[in-house]
Amino acid sequence: MDKRKLAVMTSGGDAPGMNACVRSVVRTTLHEGHSIFGIYGGYEGLINGELMPLNRHSVSNIIQKGGTFLKTSRSETFKHKSGRRRAAEMLKEWNVEILIVIGGDGSFHGAHYLYEEQGIPVIGIPATIDNDIYGTDLTIGYDTAVTTALNSIDKIRDTAASHNRLFIVEVMGRNAGFIALEVGICGGAEEILVPETKSDLKKLGEQIKTWSKAGKKSSLIVVAEGDDLGNANTIANKVKEAYNIKSHVCVLGHTQRGGSPTATDRVLASRLGFHAVKESLSGQEDIMVGWKDNSLNTIPLPESWEKKKPLDQDLMDLYSVLSS
Ligand code: F6P
Repeated sequence: MDKRKLAVMTSGGDAPGMNACVRSVVRTTLHEGHSIFGIYGGYEGLINGELMPLNRHSVSNIIQKGGTFLKTSRSETFKHKSGRRRAAEMLKEWNVEILIVIGGDGSFHGAHYLYEEQGIPVIGIPATIDNDIYGTDLTIGYDTAVTTALNSIDKIRDTAASHNRLFIVEVMGRNAGFIALEVGICGGAEEILVPETKSDLKKLGEQIKTWSKAGKKSSLIVVAEGDDLGNANTIANKVKEAYNIKSHVCVLGHTQRGGSPTATDRVLASRLGFHAVKESLSGQEDIMVGWKDNSLNTIPLPESWEKKKPLDQDLMDLYSVLSS
C-alpha cells in the first residue's frame, strides 16, 4: 500500500467542535497507515507555508476544547487566483496529495477553486455555527451555539420578567435564521425574526401592543443579526420611533462561537472527520461529507452553497402557534 500524505485545516469563523474534528481526521488517517500535516491559520497559513506534521499526541486533550488549535482566518489573498496558485505550490512542495477543509461556505468556495484551477483533491467538512450548509442536517458548532445562546436567553427572561420589560435579543446569523429559530422556540420567544422571511415593522408594532393588552408583562423577541428589518439595535430604534415602545437590547455576539462543544457536536465532528478521510482515500474529491437523515451524505462541493437549505417549516408553524 502506498503511504499517502494528507493535510487538514480549519477555515473561516471558528466553531465549537472543530478541534474534535481535527482529532478525528488525524487519528483516522494514522489508523489507515498514512501521514498528515496540520495547516496553521487556514488558507492564509497555507500560503505562508505554515504546515506541521501531526501525530496521535498532537491531538490529545483537545476534544473538549472550543475554538481551533490550528487557528483560522478569512484570507483575502486566497480569494485571488494568484493566492490559490501559491497555496497549491506549497502543497506540492510538501508532497500533500489530499486537502481536508473544515469550515463554512466561503471556505468551500476556496477549496473548490483550488481543485478546479490547481487540480488539488479536496474534501469539505461543514463547520459553522450558522448551520446554513446544504447537504447536512447539522453543521459542526451549531448545537453548541444554540445551547450557549439559550443559556443567556433563560437569564434574560429572568430579568425581563422581574422588571416587566420587552427585550430584543440578537443572535448570530448573517444570512440564516437557524440559530434564531431554534433558540426562539426553546426560549419561549414571543417573536422570532429571521432573514429567510420578510419582517414587517407595522405587524411587529401591533403585535407588541396586543401582548400588553393581553396582560403580558414581559416579552422576548429573538432576531438574527441579518434580518431584513435590521439588527436588534435598529429594530429597537424603529419600534420606539414608530410606536413609542421602549425595549432593551442584548446582543449575544461572539459568545455564541466559543465554549466547550456539546456531546452532539463532538459526535458529529468525530463522525464527519472519520468519513472525510475514508472518502478521500477511496478516491473521492471535490465533495462535502455531511450527516443527513441519520446517515452519511456526500454531495459535490459546489452543491453545498448552490442549493439553499431551508428553515424547518414545522418549527416555523410550531412557533407561531406556541407564541400566540
Ligand atoms: O461564522 C459564522 C458567523 O459567526 C456569522 O454568524 C457571523 O455573522 C460571522 O461569522 C461573524 O464573523 P467575524 O467573526 O469574522 O466577524
